[in-house]
Amino acid sequence: MDKIVITGGRRLEGTVAISGAKNAALPILISSILTDDWNTFHNVPDLWDIRTIKRLMTDLGVRFKEDKTALKVDAGGLNSFEAPYDLVKTMRASVLVLGPLLARLGRARVSLPGGCAIGARPIDIHIKGLRQMGASINLDHGYVDAKTDQLKGADIYLDITTVTGTENLMMAAVLAKGSTILRNAAKEPEIVALADCLNNMGADIQGAGSSVITITGVKKLKPTFWSIIPDRIETGTFMVAAALTKGDLKIVNCVPSHVEAVIHKLKQAGVVVEKGQTSIFVKGPEQIQSVDMKTFPYPGFPTDMQAQFMVLMSIASGLSVITEAIFENRFIHVSELQRIGADIIVSGNCAVVRGVPQLSGAPVMATDLRASASLILAGLAAEGTTEVSRVYHLDRGYERIEEKFSALGAGIERVRV
Ligand code: EPU
Repeated sequence: MDKIVITGGRRLEGTVAISGAKNAALPILISSILTDDWNTFHNVPDLWDIRTIKRLMTDLGVRFKEDKTALKVDAGGLNSFEAPYDLVKTMRASVLVLGPLLARLGRARVSLPGGCAIGARPIDIHIKGLRQMGASINLDHGYVDAKTDQLKGADIYLDITTVTGTENLMMAAVLAKGSTILRNAAKEPEIVALADCLNNMGADIQGAGSSVITITGVKKLKPTFWSIIPDRIETGTFMVAAALTKGDLKIVNCVPSHVEAVIHKLKQAGVVVEKGQTSIFVKGPEQIQSVDMKTFPYPGFPTDMQAQFMVLMSIASGLSVITEAIFENRFIHVSELQRIGADIIVSGNCAVVRGVPQLSGAPVMATDLRASASLILAGLAAEGTTEVSRVYHLDRGYERIEEKFSALGAGIERVRV
């Protein structure tokens, strides 16, 4: 299994380009299931999660063609409605095939994803919404078995704001009979990106990006040419990297408005941040100031940036209280950060971080995607060598991260073991 070995303490300098967003690419590729000819997608990141969804969709009868600039997807030959446990367990976003399969074939059998490192992560809200749209759903042998003659529009209130839940129901509703209203919908940029793509295919979706989304069903969608939005979590990760290393970075191919909450917190911590149209300049100060932070659904501070921000607070002057309000178990990185010298105490969903003058490199183990990113960041800031093992978590969601950091002056390399 690969390891990433980092020699810390180097200042990062230069320009880094952000890749396409994993969490936008996954639902958008899956939305091809709603069409029956070749779609063309640009700016699709080369990640494990993308390979996993291609495998899953290939098993369903979907075809893929790839060249240097585009990924083409054709679901004309869709011939299966089953997403098996083996694939769903490795990537929860696989449950996003549920809505589109039901809409297109009237049948879907999708493994329940089960829990994961960051929490229980049920899909009850996806199921409740689909039932309201007229699907008959049984849960048997660990599978969601869903059938319908025709999905019907419904007025759905989502008990919890859920990103993939909103996406699943939106994709189910585009071919339903009549109108669907999703209330308390998620507002993340990835929701807007999916709605824009579906509208380009001929869907009628209004209000994406607000808490009420109205979808008027249409008879058929047509294939599209579409480009994936930049990854806001990768953007935030590089912003924190600049701040941590007293660096000076120009981050390009990004959408500054998608990372406003992160920019605000970094500025409060004393980091210099300037926004361009599609770029952000970040300059780290001599000393980071402690600030409190609580995660929230968008436009709040993203839970996917919590671990990275915690690393920054671990070298700040003073105490910071970090509250995780989205997932119940998303502090698994804490014990590994403690190995690198961070002073953190966890109580319930709060972590109290007391800044230390210097982190100190150590062997650590990645436990989930964003936790892995936080360990890389900690290694960049630490004195000495940090070895991060189990980096397959990182490869799920960051494209060529060690190459990008290396080009900015970091002492970082992948060791194939
Ligand atoms: N929830 C329920 N029932 C449901 C659905 C969600 O109780 O039916 C709960 C979850 O357990 C959680 C909260 O609602 O406590 C919010 O979860 P959400 O459904 O919004 O998360 P998700 O859709 O499974 C997406 C991202 C995650 C990101 C979260 C929150 C994708 C593929 N995944 O997950 O990304 O953390 O939204 O923003 O879009 C990552 O990229 O590392 C990652 C974990």
